[in-house]
Amino acid sequence: MKLLVTGAGGMLGRAVVDAATRLGHDVCGLARGELDITDADAVRQALRGERPQAVVNCAAYTDVDGAESDNASVHAVNAAGAGNVAAAATEIGASIVQISTDYVFDGSKREPWLESDRVAPLGVYGASKLAGERAVAAANSAHAIVRTAWLFGAGGRNFVDTMLALGAEREELSVVTDQVGCPTWTGHLAGALVELAERPSQTGIHHIAAAGSCSWNELAIEIFERAGIDCRVLPTTSDAFPRPAQRPAYSVLGSERAQPLELPAWQDGVAQYLMSRVTA
Ligand SMILES: NC(=O)c1ccc[n+]([C@@H]2O[C@H](COP(=O)([O-])OP(=O)(O)OC[C@H]3O[C@@H](n4cnc5c(N)ncnc54)[C@H](OP(=O)(O)O)[C@@H]3O)[C@@H](O)[C@H]2O)c1
Repeated sequence: MKLLVTGAGGMLGRAVVDAATRLGHDVCGLARGELDITDADAVRQALRGERPQAVVNCAAYTDVDGAESDNASVHAVNAAGAGNVAAAATEIGASIVQISTDYVFDGSKREPWLESDRVAPLGVYGASKLAGERAVAAANSAHAIVRTAWLFGAGGRNFVDTMLALGAEREELSVVTDQVGCPTWTGHLAGALVELAERPSQTGIHHIAAAGSCSWNELAIEIFERAGIDCRVLPTTSDAFPRPAQRPAYSVLGSERAQPLELPAWQDGVAQYLMSRVTA
C-alpha cells in the first residue's frame, strides 16, 4: 500500500519509513523541511499529490520541558497540526495513525493505564498531545490513536544515548527511581504502527508500548550492564532534579482491547538498539 509518513526526519518517523519499506510498501516520508504540518494548505497539497491510503503522523513538538514556556507553538504542532493531517487524509479517503503519549495521564495509578482511563495531563506537552488526539478523532473517522511511551532509537535525542555518553565519562550517576514507565524501542513500535496502517478498521485508541516496566534508574542499570560500561547507578528522586515540566510518577501502559498489538519486553528493545548502534 501507499503510506505517507510525516515527521520522517525524527526518531520514530525514520523507523516507520524503514519498517514500511522493508515490508514492501510504497513509502513517502516527509521530514519537517519538506512538510510543515502547521501549514494546512501545504498538508492538503502534499496528500493530494501523493494520494496515500494511510498517513502515519510522527511529526510533533517533543521537547517536554521546552513546551512549558512555548504553549502556542506546541499546540500549533501537536493539536492543530495533527488535525490538519487528519483532515487532509479524510479529503483523499485515507486513514490516519496518530502517535500520542503516556503523558496524557497524571501517573496517580499503580497499575497499568488502560485506553478508557481518565486523562489528566500534568504539563503543556501532554495537554497538547491530548488535544491532538481529539482533533484527529474529530477530523477523520478512520483514525488509530497510538499512545506509546519512553521512546529510544536511532536519529533522535533519547535516554539510552544520554546514558551511554555520561557512563563513558563518569564513575557514578544518580538516576531517579520515582518515575516508572515502559521504555520502548522505535524499531519494535514501528512494525506495529505499519500493521495498524494496513488495517484501517482498527479505529480508536491503542496503548502500544514495550512489555514490562521499570524506573529510569533500572533502565540505566540495564543499559550499562548490556553495554559493558562500568558506571555505578545511584538512586535519587525527582525533587533532587527540578525540571520545568512535571512527569507522571507511574505511566505504564496496558490495554483493554480484545486483541492488543503487543511488543517484546523493554530489555529486548534495549538489546536490539545497542546491537543496531554497533552495526550502524
Ligand atoms: N520520545 C518519546 O519518548 C515519546 C514518548 C511517547 C510518545 N512520543 C510521540 O512519538 C512521536 C514521535 O516522536 P519522536 O520521539 O520521534 O520525536 P522526534 O525525534 O522529536 O521527532 C519528531 C519530528 O517531528 C518534527 N516536527 C516538529 N514540528 C514539526 C512540524 N511543524 N511539521 C513537521 N514536522 C515537525 C521534528 O522536526 P525537528 O526536529 O526539526 O523539530 C522531528 O523530526 C510524537 O508524536 C511524540 O509525541 C514520543
